[in-house]
Amino acid sequence: MADKKGNSKALIIVLAVLLVLGGIGGAAYYFYQKDAPKRELAALGYNEQQITVIMNSKLADEVIENSPSELFSYALSDSIKNISHTDFYLIADSKRTQNLSVKEHFDILKKMLESGYDSADCHTLIENLSLEELNSLLRMEKPANLEVFTEGVAHGFDINDSLKLSEGNSELAKMIFDGAIDFELVRPLLDKQYSADDILSLIKNLSEEDYLFILNMKYIPELAQLSSMENFDMNLLPRYLMSLRSNRSDINDVVNWVNNDNDYIPASEIDYSAMYHDETIPDDYMSYTACINKQYALPADYVPSDLEQLPYGYHVLDHPMRHVAANAFVNMSDGSVVAGYERILAQSNYRSYDHQKSLYDMYVEQDGVKGADTYSARPGHSEHQTGLVTDIGTGSLDMLYLENYSGYQWLLENAHKYGFIQRYPEGKEYITGYEYEPWHFRYVGVESATLMYEHNWTLDEYSLLFN
Ligand code: DAL
Ligand code: ZN
Repeated sequence: MADKKGNSKALIIVLAVLLVLGGIGGAAYYFYQKDAPKRELAALGYNEQQITVIMNSKLADEVIENSPSELFSYALSDSIKNISHTDFYLIADSKRTQNLSVKEHFDILKKMLESGYDSADCHTLIENLSLEELNSLLRMEKPANLEVFTEGVAHGFDINDSLKLSEGNSELAKMIFDGAIDFELVRPLLDKQYSADDILSLIKNLSEEDYLFILNMKYIPELAQLSSMENFDMNLLPRYLMSLRSNRSDINDVVNWVNNDNDYIPASEIDYSAMYHDETIPDDYMSYTACINKQYALPADYVPSDLEQLPYGYHVLDHPMRHVAANAFVNMSDGSVVAGYERILAQSNYRSYDHQKSLYDMYVEQDGVKGADTYSARPGHSEHQTGLVTDIGTGSLDMLYLENYSGYQWLLENAHKYGFIQRYPEGKEYITGYEYEPWHFRYVGVESATLMYEHNWTLDEYSLLFN
């Protein structure tokens, strides 16, 4: 009995000792294992301080996997306080494709992190952009959609284009990346400050012909919304804009409003004097397509530098015209003869500011301000001062009777081929600000004149889209 007792006691002791030893061994093994990364890091050449940082950042596995990491070591030696970004340095370093020195790489990363890019963003960007591009990116605002932005860069678009593509709906960007739409058809609109959303809407809502047409126009902020309206008509775009900008209509119903001619004012009801408002001098006042009307004036001292007399036989009065317009008129005059009509003659062309002032003052004297404003421009507001205008007559007809000219229809249908438009047509008085003048033709160049002719636009309308 006593032996049995003694045996069991010994067994318990042995078991206890074994348990303790096992525990010690297990603990030792546990601590040995736990330190394995440290030993591996040490074997990879990291010093004690670096190992502490790595272990505290719980990055041992990644460091071991990505070692030897030149950049990581550099990060540690350069700026231990930035260690919270170590994960990024590691990943970036392991996937580094740029031919950058470690210092260049490290410096740009630091700047990017300081600018608010997170490590994943930095990683994507560093893979896709050159150092120069990264630096210019840092001087700009952060891309709205980084994924689209980097994909744009990866597709070979420059930073500016990629930035624009990354704004707003990414559907447009996807269409471009997928080759569904040619970027060259989008770029002109991006350059004109249309947003990606606007462009997408224009692509969806406009016919191909109209879309190609707007590429040449200036930026029209209302265009995307207007073109999304049912019954939108490109020919009426200037009138939609005029109605909107004069607060005559709301953007949601302006298309129907204008399509139904609700913007039209009969000549007899127009307040021609009230059309003078907010008068300014346009930047392009010397250009062939400058729009001079009751809103836009010429400087009082403006005299075109290339005025010249028309050749003998082509004019009634001795008024010069600008060189290009004079040549164009001579051709048109010859054209009228070739077409079988009496030769058209230039009756009244360039008029100086002072000349226009004396005419206008005379008309005011005669018909009062309201009366004069229906047919005579106030000084500075006359197109005649551009040197690009001719009031047309013939040898047998004063300009005032040009409508009776047998070639009048020919003139209306062919003037644009010589670069001229009839400037104050019937039915557009509420737009031009003047009563119908059959005789007053304005040189704008063949291309612009043809465009206006084909769309039935006055220069006032054209300039809302193009000037
Ligand atoms: N008769 C035109 C409008 C002018 O005076 O210029
Ligand atoms: Zn005139």
